[in-house]
Order: sequence, then structure tokens, then C-alpha cells
Amino acid sequence: DTPLRALADRQDLRIGTAVDMNALADDEQYRTIAAREFSSVTAENVMKWEAVEPQQGVNDFTQADALVDFAHRNKQAVRGHTLVWHNQLPAWLTAGVADGSIDATELRRILHDHITTTVKHFKGKIYQWDVVNEIFDDNAQLRDSIWLQQLGPSYIADAFRWAHAADPGAKLFLNDYNTEGVNAKSTAYYELAKELRAQGVPVQGMGIQGHLDIQYGFPGDVQDNLERFSALGMQTAFTEVDVRMDLPADDAKLTRQADDYRRLVQACLNVRRCTSFTVWGYTDKYSWIPGVFTGQGAANLFDEVFAVKPAYTTVRDTL
Ligand code: XIL
Repeated sequence: DTPLRALADRQDLRIGTAVDMNALADDEQYRTIAAREFSSVTAENVMKWEAVEPQQGVNDFTQADALVDFAHRNKQAVRGHTLVWHNQLPAWLTAGVADGSIDATELRRILHDHITTTVKHFKGKIYQWDVVNEIFDDNAQLRDSIWLQQLGPSYIADAFRWAHAADPGAKLFLNDYNTEGVNAKSTAYYELAKELRAQGVPVQGMGIQGHLDIQYGFPGDVQDNLERFSALGMQTAFTEVDVRMDLPADDAKLTRQADDYRRLVQACLNVRRCTSFTVWGYTDKYSWIPGVFTGQGAANLFDEVFAVKPAYTTVRDTL
């Protein structure tokens, strides 16, 4: 059968997966399917700040470089994830802010250096960077993170400018969950993007994570939402798609799941500047869902033994 990536090529779309580096090292079947099916990869964890700067001033890109090498060997593009987030920060950073040994001036310098060092390290090898991740909360207010508290909202424009200076060729993205449809949160992103772009800030993409749950139903107006960002001249991308369900899975749930995947893929295909569709892991064997959402899982395209699920077949038939 034709792999997903070949079908996506014909649509000028990158089809991607998040990659778990432990699975990539240890599991040959995982490696084989990751290479065969996908034309884009995202590091599930190894490009996050805690991974690349475990001690202050000491960078470790070993794992991230291994993913970039894998992608290069398999003619895959790489999404960079992520530069500024409130989670998975290094312990030295969180502790330093908490005890006051890192003040606001110092924190701004640390953020600048992190973005500059990281983006330069991968210069020319990353096609899309998630510059800021999850900066709004579900009330559509800027998230009350250390970044907002210490630096104020200007950290957002700064992050994009610094990333652009370090690699002018990478497309720079906002990224968040619960932004699939038109809602208060996605509208906050739309307004922010419009304002930043009017100020000349290099914001070029809206990343829509796409962590869905079959019990909530499919979000409304997904295509309209993509189109309004596209109308600003921005790219859009689904960056972390998975569709979870209460376990155990059954045929009815798997059918609803397949339908949700189909509608996301179709929305992306329908909108001109929707450039990539990435799943947050492609197999239930290594999914983050059961560890975080109690009693839920079975969120991916392949099951725990790498058999294709209805969602896979549906995505293939939609491409
Ligand atoms: C998750 C990973 O999948 C887990 O392995 C890790 O323990 C926590 O982070 N939104 C994001 C991703 O932007 O980085 C998160 O990834 C999932 C939610």
C-alpha cells in the first residue's frame, strides 16, 4: 500500500509524527514505520529546554541531533518544538526564578541566549519552529507563566525576533491546544497574530495542536479558523494530533475517532496555507495519553502492536 507520505506529497502537504527517542533507539518496527509513513518529524521531548540545557550554560543537543540525522537520512523535514513554554523548563531555571537569584533582567538575557543558541544550532535544518507554546489559558488570557510575570507580554515579540535573527529561513509558529475551532482562545491568537504582524514581528504560522477526545465531539468551524489565519498571510499546521477515548476501545469509538482524524485532515487539505499535519506519536504503544489522562488512551493511528486502525485507513483515504 502507498505510505501516507507519498499521498501527502501529491497534495503538497507534510505529514508528520512526534518521535519518542527511546523508542527510536530500541524498537526497530517503530523506526521502520516512522521512516516509511511520515515526511516530517517533531521531537516529542528532546528539543525542550530541560533537555537541551540541563545545567545552566551547558548545552546537550545529542538526542536532538540524533533525530535531525534520522530525518535527514529519511528525507524528512523537522519541526522544532519548542523554544518558550511554561512546562519542562530546567530545574535550575525554575529554582532560580523562585528564589530570586535570577531577576527579570537576567531572565530576559537567559531567554535570549536559549533561543539564539538553540535556533543557531539547528540553523537550516528546521522548517518550522514552535517559538511560543501554550501562551494563552483557556479563558483566552495570556497565561500567568514566569515569562509573563517577570518579563511582561513583550517577551512574545522578543522571542520571535530573536528566533528570526538566529535562522531567518525557519517559519516561526505560535502553538496551542483547544484552538482547532473558532473560539475565544483561537480568537485571542488571531488578534495577537494580527497585531504582531502589523508591528513587523516575524510570526509566520499558527500551530494547532489537535489533542481531541471523542466524547467532546468535533470542534466547530475548524476550516473557518484555519482560513482566517491564512487570510493574514500566515501558514497553519496541525502539530500534535491525537484523538483519545475512554478505554477500552471498541468499534464504535474507533469509528468516531477515525471520523475526527478525517475532518482535521480534510480541513487542512481545504485551506491553501495549511502546510503540515503532524500526529503526536503514531502508535498507541508509546502514547503520552494513558500517563496523563486517567483511563484514556488508544489515541493514535496504529495500535500497540503496530496494526493499522480505522483512523489510519481513513487518513490514507482522505489524503
Ligand atoms: C508531552 C510529551 O508527549 C510527554 O512525553 C511529556 O512527558 C510531556 O509533554 N502539548 C505539547 C507537548 O506541546 O510538548 C506535550 O508533550 C503534549 C501537550
